[in-house]
Amino acid sequence: MIKTIQPTSMIRGIVHLPGDKSISHRYAMFAAIAEGVSTLEHFAASRDCHSTLDCLRSLGVEIDEAGDNVAIRGRGLRGFQAPERILDAGNSGTTIRLLSGILAGHSFESSISGDQSLSSRPMRRIATPLRLMGARIESREGELPPLRIRGGALKGIRYRLPVASAQVKSCVLLAGLYGSGPTAVEEIVPTRNHTEIALREFGGSIRMEGNWIEVDPAPLLKARRLAIPGDLSGAAFFIIAAALSPNSDLLIPGVGLNERRCELLNYLISAGLDLQIENVTKDAGEPRGDLRVRHNSALLRSKLPPIQGELTAALIDEIPVLSILGSQVRGGLEISDAQELRIKESDRISALSANLKSMGVEVQEKPDGLVISGGRKLQGTDIVTHGDHRIAMAFAVAGLSAQSETRIHEAECADVSFPGFWDALDGITR
Ligand code: S3P
Repeated sequence: MIKTIQPTSMIRGIVHLPGDKSISHRYAMFAAIAEGVSTLEHFAASRDCHSTLDCLRSLGVEIDEAGDNVAIRGRGLRGFQAPERILDAGNSGTTIRLLSGILAGHSFESSISGDQSLSSRPMRRIATPLRLMGARIESREGELPPLRIRGGALKGIRYRLPVASAQVKSCVLLAGLYGSGPTAVEEIVPTRNHTEIALREFGGSIRMEGNWIEVDPAPLLKARRLAIPGDLSGAAFFIIAAALSPNSDLLIPGVGLNERRCELLNYLISAGLDLQIENVTKDAGEPRGDLRVRHNSALLRSKLPPIQGELTAALIDEIPVLSILGSQVRGGLEISDAQELRIKESDRISALSANLKSMGVEVQEKPDGLVISGGRKLQGTDIVTHGDHRIAMAFAVAGLSAQSETRIHEAECADVSFPGFWDALDGITR
């Protein structure tokens, strides 16, 4: 599907977000290995999270869906059934990497794979620690999916994460639930901590000391009733769309505000964004609140702070849409230490560079980032998304500020994280 975006002069109204994708994956997996029936409210509508539910069903987990409420009957820590077919993680790196940690704790053999994009994403990062724990992991040449996993009795390990990745951290912590003793991981850079928070909520035992996170094996996990906040990474597209259009005024209720996820808000406020955060509450360790964004012309006259080091890891999913903002602020934006972006759902550095250039922006591509010159009016064009949801949604935001029509190719890929994105966008453009 090609989605045509017309230039807009104003963003106004309310955006209702789908449930947070990262939290939904984790709640579904913990619910599946807990005792009893968990109810997850406002579960992510995203295609990725439905890949997780489908894999869990193939492992014998009973799941009932009613709108965005999902009831999951847990099978206990070691209760999965051997799947009859290859598990299909679709486009979802979180599904394959986190679920592999749990599969490594089961003694049957299973295989897990995904679509073309996922099949080219690196799995050595999880295969190495899982092998150290004693699981047998086979993969396609280059440590690519499909993964064939046979686990069972694992050893607890102490493992220093070689990459800043919440997926790898979570995989090792989940496998650690099946260890003979505690398992600890050391993070070189802090990444999202939803696994740590959720494990505690389901009754697991987890300790943090400095950069080390340690879990105890064989917890008795108990079913929970949990409400999932709105996805801040989905809100990012609308926040930046509102920041770019004069006279904008946008309300986004119920947004997840976990401190490891909301660096985007701190970053934009420090750059001059007019943002109010109201009605903040905390449920099951995950804060949430309502966001109100208004246009502030000072932001467009600024130079955005460079995105590098720990900031890159904290903003990793928001860099595509921040690059669009970078092209519109007077001083531009420099992004470094972002080599991980090359192995996301697409090579996002190259996709951003090529599409920004075709909209008329001066961009320099580096191995680990981009130097984006600012302040140039965007020209409408055809956007090659490579089927990557965040590239499609980021360039939809660019299209709103362009001088002529923009066509987003393979626009249906937005469903990977944000089904309803195009209607939500149409609903707030004036
Ligand atoms: C995610 C972690 C990040 C992020 C992805 C979701 C998660 O990936 O980019 O969208 O839910 O743990 P990495 O762990 O590969 O950085």
